[in-house]
Amino acid sequence: MSHIQEYQTVIPAEPVIFELSQDEKPGLRLPTLTVPKTEPSAVFSHSELRSSEPCLPQLSEPEVVRHFTRLSMQNYNIDASIYPLGSCTMKYNPRINEDLARMPEVALMHPMMPEQLCQGHLQMIYELEQDLGEISGLPAVSLQPAAGAQGEFSALKVAAAYFASRGEAERTVVVTPDSAHGTNPASAALCGFSLVEIPTGKDGIVSVEALKDFLNGRLAVVMMTNPNTLGRFESNIEDIARAVHKAGGLVYCDGANLNAILGYARPGDFGVDIMHINLHKTFSTPHGGGGPGAGPICCRADLEPFLPTPRVQKKGDRFYTWVEQDPKKTVGKVKSFYGNYGVLVRAWTYIRMIGPEGLRETAKNAVLSANYIKAKLKDLYPETFEGPTLHEAVLCDKKIKEHGITTAELAKMLLDYGVHPPTVYFPLIVSGALMIEPTETENLEELDRFIFAMRDSFERAARGETKGQTFPTKTPRTKIDETAAARKPTLTWQASQRAEK
Ligand SMILES: Cc1ncc(COP(=O)(O)O)c(C=O)c1O
Repeated sequence: MSHIQEYQTVIPAEPVIFELSQDEKPGLRLPTLTVPKTEPSAVFSHSELRSSEPCLPQLSEPEVVRHFTRLSMQNYNIDASIYPLGSCTMKYNPRINEDLARMPEVALMHPMMPEQLCQGHLQMIYELEQDLGEISGLPAVSLQPAAGAQGEFSALKVAAAYFASRGEAERTVVVTPDSAHGTNPASAALCGFSLVEIPTGKDGIVSVEALKDFLNGRLAVVMMTNPNTLGRFESNIEDIARAVHKAGGLVYCDGANLNAILGYARPGDFGVDIMHINLHKTFSTPHGGGGPGAGPICCRADLEPFLPTPRVQKKGDRFYTWVEQDPKKTVGKVKSFYGNYGVLVRAWTYIRMIGPEGLRETAKNAVLSANYIKAKLKDLYPETFEGPTLHEAVLCDKKIKEHGITTAELAKMLLDYGVHPPTVYFPLIVSGALMIEPTETENLEELDRFIFAMRDSFERAARGETKGQTFPTKTPRTKIDETAAARKPTLTWQASQRAEK
């Protein structure tokens, strides 16, 4: 496969020399002083004065620009190549989103502008709320939460406020399946709920039976990720929702995987009461290393009074800031103003750009791509939970381990092919998990390159060529000391490092 060679050059192999500054080569010459010189000690007290020269880099402008450009080229990114992180969903960020979000009229907007001067902005926020309400089948929407995890937290706060308003403070139990993302139990614990974990069945989904011991007066919320983290649709969801509602509880949907069912199924229609949506996973906004993102929450109409504020209201053809729909009920603010407005603008753009049919197409292609990869790799990397999957393929290292390579080592090997590894060791219920999510934005050639990298790695291991080797071998940095990187991170350049040079 000839394009593999080309693929291996995605990231330059030579490490960039970081320290380029040379003494006596100043990049900037200050103009000659044209006013009388004042002795610093006449203005500042002795303790405020420096005792030595500042240790500033000495470089010209072209050197600085080239240095940072070279550094940025060593950073793997979604604009360089595929990023098949299952559950994290890294899809291409269309440039039109950026164009809109960076328009001065948008980027420089102040959130306290008078309403009559920002009708267009309020309209955008209102329309995004309406769109997400329609897509989820849950009409009341708050755009405030800044990430999926904060959406979970906010939604559970809404649930707690709802139970408190009904005099049901004894409902303190939250149930999560063992395949759930770690943020689910963490959010529940942060909200003061106690946690119960239920097992996933052999078929990769949860049954009503698994819940039966918890369907009582202490049940608050059952948190279901649907489609779940095995890429499987929780097809018992309607029965589960019926049983939970009968017991007086609420059904929460972790909507991180909504991209797989867009336009085909709506959580509100299959019994969900409240959910979060990760705009960065489903609606092409940047994922951005944990933020700034957006994790809006959508809920059924009777939970609306508890949602975070402010929101936007439409009266006639005017848009208004809706500060407190019911000051006694709302859980208040979880983020300033409307949340991360620039991110919301990007999602609004994406939805408008591709329209309802485009959204369906997105889901179809995301599912097709994941199933293509699964079909091409399953003989070497088997599934632990066999069955039909949607947007991601969860495979494992069972066979390659027989040749001495584990999931962790395979992840490092893939870097030599210029491929970002998939998510590893998650979900926790799959031993040596390789969770692959190509998304709808990768074309067939890119999928084939990834498949080649996975298969070639296996075959090299099977031929014994990887014995005693440490991977990666072709990247600017080879295997790093992960413990030191976690325990003693050096996150910024320090002037003292230059002084030590
Ligand atoms: C299934 C699932 N739920 C929740 C989250 C949390 O979302 P966020 O990273 O936006 O906080 C993630 C994130 O990867 C996820 O995969």
